[in-house]
Amino acid sequence: MELPFRVDLSKKVVALTGAGGVLISEFAKALAESGAKVALLDINYEAAKKVADEIGENALAIGTNALDTASLKAAREQIHAAFGKVNLLVNGAGGNNPKATTDNEYMTPDISEDVKSFFKLDEAGLRFVFDLNITSAFLTTQVFAEDMLETGGNIINLSSMNAFHPLTKIPAYSAAKAGISNFTEWLAVHFAPVGIRCNAIAPGFFVGNQNRGLLFNPDGSPTPRTHKILAGTPMGRFGEVKELIGALLFLADDNASGFITGVVLPVDGGFNVYSGV
Ligand SMILES: NC(=O)c1ccc[n+]([C@@H]2O[C@H](COP(=O)([O-])OP(=O)(O)OC[C@H]3O[C@@H](n4cnc5c(N)ncnc54)[C@H](O)[C@@H]3O)[C@@H](O)[C@H]2O)c1
Repeated sequence: MELPFRVDLSKKVVALTGAGGVLISEFAKALAESGAKVALLDINYEAAKKVADEIGENALAIGTNALDTASLKAAREQIHAAFGKVNLLVNGAGGNNPKATTDNEYMTPDISEDVKSFFKLDEAGLRFVFDLNITSAFLTTQVFAEDMLETGGNIINLSSMNAFHPLTKIPAYSAAKAGISNFTEWLAVHFAPVGIRCNAIAPGFFVGNQNRGLLFNPDGSPTPRTHKILAGTPMGRFGEVKELIGALLFLADDNASGFITGVVLPVDGGFNVYSGV
C-alpha cells in the first residue's frame, strides 16, 4: 500500500476492532506497512482473515465480539502469545442500522401509517446502535488499556460528522458518535497521568458499501442526499479512504503527536465548519 508519509511504528502492537470492514482494514494495512504488528479483531472472522492474509506475517485475525468481555479477553491472550502486550488500540467497530433510521428528514403532522417515523423506530434497533458504537468502545478499552498501564499507550476512536451536528434520519447513530467524541475526551483526561493518549478521527463522507445505496441510484446517478452532502462540503467531493491514513499515522506516531490527547480530528473537506452560507 502507498503511504502518504513514513513513520516508524515497529514497536507498536496494535489491536483494531472492526478490522474486516471498509475503513479499518485499510488502517490495519497502513499500520502494518509502517512496521507495526496488527491484530485484526472482527465478529466476522472471515473478513478479518482475508485482510490479515493480504498483510502477511505481522498480522493476526481473531474472531472477536467487541460487545463481549470474555471474547475480548480471549483475543488479548492470543495477541500476547503472538506479539506481546498491546500499546495501540483502534476502536473501529461501529455503524448504523436501518431499524434506527427514520424514513423522513422532518416530522409532519399528517404522517402516514406506512412511514417509519421517529415514533416507530425499533427499540432493539436503537439499542443495537448504541451498543455497537458506544458499549463496544467501553468494553474494548477496559480490556486493552490494562495492557498499557505500565508502559503507556495510545487509543484511537472512530467518531463521525454526526457527532458535531446530528445528521437527519439517523438519531441513534448521531447520538452514539457524539458519545464517542465525549468518551474520547474523558479517556484522555483519565489516562493522561499514566501516559495513555486518546484521540479520535471523525471521517466526513466516504462512499462505502454501507452508504452507497443512500448516495447513488442503481443507474449510478447521485441521490438528493448526495447533492446535499456535496453542497455542504466546501471541497465539493467525497473523501477517499486513503485520505484518512495521514491522520491515522500522525495520531499513531508518538514522535509526531506525543503531546496531543483528547482531540477529535475531522477529515471532511470542510463539511464540519461550513454553515452553508
Ligand atoms: N465509512 C464511513 O464513511 C464512516 C464515516 C464516519 C465514521 N465511520 C466509523 O468508522 C468505523 C469503521 O467504519 P466502516 O465503514 O469501516 O464500517 P464497516 O461496516 O465497513 O465495518 C465494520 C466492521 O465491524 C464489524 N463488527 C460489527 N459488529 C462487531 C462486533 N460486535 N465486534 C467486532 N466487530 C464487529 C463488522 O463485521 C465489520 O467488519 C465505524 O465506527 C464507523 O461508525 C465510518
